[in-house]
Amino acid sequence: MFENFPHKPLFGANLVSKLFAEDTRDDKLDLGLGVYKSSEGQTTILRSVKKAEARLLKGQETKSYVGLAGDKVFSRRLAELTMGSDQAWDRISIAQTPGGVAAMRVGFEMVHAAQPGATVWVSNPTWANHPPIIQHAGLAVQAYPYLNEETGGVDFDAMTKCLGGLPAGDVVLLQASCHNPTGAGLENAQWDIIAELCKKRGLLPFLDVAYQGFGMGIEEDSYAPRLFAKVMPELLVAVTCSKNFANYRDRVGIIAIQATNSDTAHRSSLKMLDLINALYAMPPDHGAAIVSDILSDQGLRSEWERELAEMRERLANLRIALAAAMRRETNSTEFDFLERQQGMFSILPVTPEQVDAMRIDHGMYIVSNGRINIAGIAESQVNRVAKVIAGVRQVSST
Ligand SMILES: Cc1ncc(COP(=O)(O)O)c(C=O)c1O
Repeated sequence: MFENFPHKPLFGANLVSKLFAEDTRDDKLDLGLGVYKSSEGQTTILRSVKKAEARLLKGQETKSYVGLAGDKVFSRRLAELTMGSDQAWDRISIAQTPGGVAAMRVGFEMVHAAQPGATVWVSNPTWANHPPIIQHAGLAVQAYPYLNEETGGVDFDAMTKCLGGLPAGDVVLLQASCHNPTGAGLENAQWDIIAELCKKRGLLPFLDVAYQGFGMGIEEDSYAPRLFAKVMPELLVAVTCSKNFANYRDRVGIIAIQATNSDTAHRSSLKMLDLINALYAMPPDHGAAIVSDILSDQGLRSEWERELAEMRERLANLRIALAAAMRRETNSTEFDFLERQQGMFSILPVTPEQVDAMRIDHGMYIVSNGRINIAGIAESQVNRVAKVIAGVRQVSST
């Protein structure tokens, strides 16, 4: 029965992880997988999470099912963190999901159920997992221009020109902050223009919120979801806590769908539960219960905000240090974009062959499209990383 499957190899960060696991060198460096690492190279559990978890284990009285929509208190708290508390909540239906990928899958299944032929527009480039999630939900994928390779910023003119020509009903996937894989983001005034454009043309925005708090701050990074929820008649927002609560494997997230009125929201909610029932039935409780406790307890919340600020500031300092090291290694300002961009990722101007050379000759792993996880570099490794990048480029140019 299964013999007709084509041999479809792993790709993106999953392939990097496999190759990295097989490498026996002691000094190998994984800058492929999208996880935050401390100066000691560890993806540690946050102190606030540990405390809330201890409390949960002590007080938990049942492990019965949480229901199709999950925990409503958790979902509302996380939605308020992202979309702000002052929204038309009677128009918004929310479900707790197993992380951000499931949130997006449920969201795109909803789009497919409402409008089976819909096209979803993603940025060029986008996170490698976006197209398969969309396609597996039965929708078509197209790309709008995004990265300006010269400046390392967003090619806003090309982006708005493309979106401005789309037909009503098309879906636009936008990353709210700390764009994966480019690190290039929109200014608030540019978000205003995109929101206006979506509204005017009848486009359906789908916001992917995966790095809230990693860019400029919890509030600042949620400018887009707060704005879009205010001005758009319809909207989808997928939120994951994988990165900002560092609870990757606990699978914590939500999907929020905004409809034009409360009756439509209620019917959307029922449709969503129907889909969830057939997809995975119930989200896991553990990580969401911890996040819910942190968001509602003032002490734990302050501690989490401090921990998130530490990660954010360290990441910004790593970017400054890597850009400075690249200036020394290349005697140019070509890599200054690293300092201007935000979040865990940037795309390096390297060819797939140079990425192979990094891996084979230096034990340094990044994704074949040049995506590097800055949050995976220990301070002590910054100079080594800069030397390897400059080295593989120089070898190819001689
Ligand atoms: C842009 C983006 N969206 C969504 C996700 C989903 O994360 P998860 O399913 O691990 O919660 C990720 C994870 O890397 C991401 O980078």
